[in-house]
Amino acid sequence: MTTTLSPALLTDPGLHATGDPHGLWAWMREHTPVHWQPAGDVPAFWSLTRYEDIRAVYRDAATFSSAHGVLLRRAELGDDPGGGLTLALTDAPRHKQLRGLMADWFNTRAVRGLEGHIRAATRTVLGRALDQGACDFAHDIAGRLSLSVICHILGVPARDHEALYQWTNEAFEAHTSLVAHPRLLEYFEELLFQRMEQPTDDLVSALVNGTVDGQLLTEEEVVLNCENLIGATENGRLALIGGMHAFLEHPQQWQRLSDDRGLLPGAIEEILRWTSSATHSMRVAARPCEIRGERITAGDRVVLWLPSANRDEDVFADPYRFDIARSPNRHIALAAGEHFCIGSTLARAEMRVLFSELLDTVRRIELDGPVRRLHSIAVNGPERLPVRLTAT
Ligand code: HEM
Repeated sequence: MTTTLSPALLTDPGLHATGDPHGLWAWMREHTPVHWQPAGDVPAFWSLTRYEDIRAVYRDAATFSSAHGVLLRRAELGDDPGGGLTLALTDAPRHKQLRGLMADWFNTRAVRGLEGHIRAATRTVLGRALDQGACDFAHDIAGRLSLSVICHILGVPARDHEALYQWTNEAFEAHTSLVAHPRLLEYFEELLFQRMEQPTDDLVSALVNGTVDGQLLTEEEVVLNCENLIGATENGRLALIGGMHAFLEHPQQWQRLSDDRGLLPGAIEEILRWTSSATHSMRVAARPCEIRGERITAGDRVVLWLPSANRDEDVFADPYRFDIARSPNRHIALAAGEHFCIGSTLARAEMRVLFSELLDTVRRIELDGPVRRLHSIAVNGPERLPVRLTAT
């Protein structure tokens, strides 16, 4: 094994920014699909790289707990402060009740009702980019669009979107936690008090007035859940950017989509599979179990590498080919089981609207400088995607 095939490198953000993680994952799927990684910068953990194993862990929430955090963190940071409090970081039965409080805001009907807002926000950011001729697709288009949509759902007034956008960019730069960034927390605390006095038709009001086990959520729970939703949106943003990047690298697929818009739903699934922007999910074993003959002890961390699952050659034919007509395409970019991404319908709608608006209004879109990838082990994809746009 050469050093570039050392599984220990998976926790090095440099590998995901400038290296070849797919080469390493392919090697691990074949040679060490259930790999024990001793403690280093982060505590010891098991790495899973095969699709079936990862899917099975996601679907067994009774054995694999989310309440201690779902991201690897440096040992000195301790457990995630949102543990047991936010949707992503709770187990049954609390998880189901919390999810029940939020589900109505993200279901198909709710997202259909949001389409007008998504389209208007898309036209604003695209119009600005077309006027300028060149922009950073990551920052000026995808970032602003996805933040505007989640702010709308939460009930953040339009005048505050820009400030939230700045704080969000700063807060999640380190990509090690889904929660606990003081400025965002303060902001949501203030909004929470406003909605306590005067509830409106938004998700913050629903959280403020909602109950779990007959009890109102605490202020801390409301605020952390709002912030967690903002953080989770990072994946939606990365799917938009990664999708654009994939099309820039595969212009014949963009042409194909342009010739046949009926391919768009399949193209969205392929973008999700191809980009797999959530790099890993972590679980902690609540009881002893076995995976492929390896004995997992209660308390062990188990890390699921999603981009690896979505390139598993046992599941996907020709997995390294970006093919917008791929069928079947049973990717697990949005996880599986009880914690299946609650924002999945919304993320798909944002992709559908943005790519169809681009096809309608932009004649040519070209790369306009070097692409820089994120330096993170939690999420992956282009952090900067400079493009030049020409209107139709
Ligand atoms: C509009 C954008 C999005 C929002 C608001 C959102 C929100 C969320 C939330 C709140 C959860 C926790 C669900 C639960 O625990 O019951 C979640 C889970 C998850 N989401 Fe999303 N998400 C978005 C887009 C995406 C995208 C585009 C991807 C990947 C391409 C993604 C991948 C995941 C994964 C892998 C999980 C499982 C995390 C875990 O439990 O370990 N999300 N999402």
